Amino acid sequence: MKVSELTWDREGLAAAIACEDAAFEAALREEAYRVKVDTIGPEVYLRGLIEISNICVKDCLYCGIRRDISCPRYELSEEEVLSAARTAAGRRFGSVVIQGGERTDAAFIRKITRLLKEIKQIDTGDDPPLGITLSLGEQSREVYEEWFDAGAHRYLLRIEAFNPDLYRKIHPEDHSYDRRLQALYDLKEIGYQAGTGAMIGIPFQTAEDLADDLLFYKQFDAPMVGMGPYNPHPQTPLTLSGAPYPSAERRFALGLKMIALLRLLMPDINIAAATALEVLDPRGREKGLLSGANVFMPNVTPREQLVKYNLYDRKTSLPDGPSALEHGLSDSRIVIGYGRWGDSKHFRQE
Ligand code: 5AD
Repeated sequence: MKVSELTWDREGLAAAIACEDAAFEAALREEAYRVKVDTIGPEVYLRGLIEISNICVKDCLYCGIRRDISCPRYELSEEEVLSAARTAAGRRFGSVVIQGGERTDAAFIRKITRLLKEIKQIDTGDDPPLGITLSLGEQSREVYEEWFDAGAHRYLLRIEAFNPDLYRKIHPEDHSYDRRLQALYDLKEIGYQAGTGAMIGIPFQTAEDLADDLLFYKQFDAPMVGMGPYNPHPQTPLTLSGAPYPSAERRFALGLKMIALLRLLMPDINIAAATALEVLDPRGREKGLLSGANVFMPNVTPREQLVKYNLYDRKTSLPDGPSALEHGLSDSRIVIGYGRWGDSKHFRQE
């Protein structure tokens, strides 16, 4: 298969996804990198990632912090979150992402609202105030509005699997697919840059499913996408069920290939090099950036807590010292856009 022969319909995308020819995959990644540089430039935007809590009301069958798993739980104090955000500001990351397990209790909701207002006050010198992305799951429209009014302007909510049958296979019965989709449209209507994404290489997933994920990002007109390879967690029902999934090598290649295909499909959006890539390859996220991604999220969560945010088995990818932050990016082709919100060109043009 040749990159020039690719077609952008479901069949064409599925064929590209299914094709395991290493030369084709490498050519695709190079082409995506070229298109990225031509369209939005070589810059990589940073977001300091703050993993606020691993307490979760949801029970997703693949996730290591699901409600019914027994693991040490934590919640960062407001001061710890602010201190992490100050680290991000001091290093001129431009933006932070607050991510955590889904919680809908009033105390948590108010805490986020207070934090948003306080983060907006953090001194960033000559740079604009920190941009804030939230990734805190499904919430009511009112809560999304409250957080938007308090200063959040981007929200990441992965669809996880666009095919509703596949979605049902990896979630308990009471997790509604329609509710998730509705939440995404609510976010968009409120005015957020609503990002989405899916896991790559999960059990039961076909090349057509992955093609449909890409076509969904396009149809939803997502200004940003964060998607990453599935990494099995030893204690989850999905792993324990024994359902097969692609090898680590394939999941990694597929993760990069999905980034590359999406860059070609939507040249001017923000695409994150997901942390999950790093579990499969020590330079995984950097390889993501060289395959078309343009957003990198250095983890600024305090280390004692970070080790407990085990969505999957990530022992091999725990940040260690300065390499954990943007200094881990050593490829000379990578240019870091310091002190900027880094909104996607796509969103700015809307
Ligand atoms: N492997 C890869 N990604 C996972 N996530 C949760 N569990 C796993 C796993 N086992 C992802 C989900 C969720 C995000 C926070 O982490 O896509 O949206």
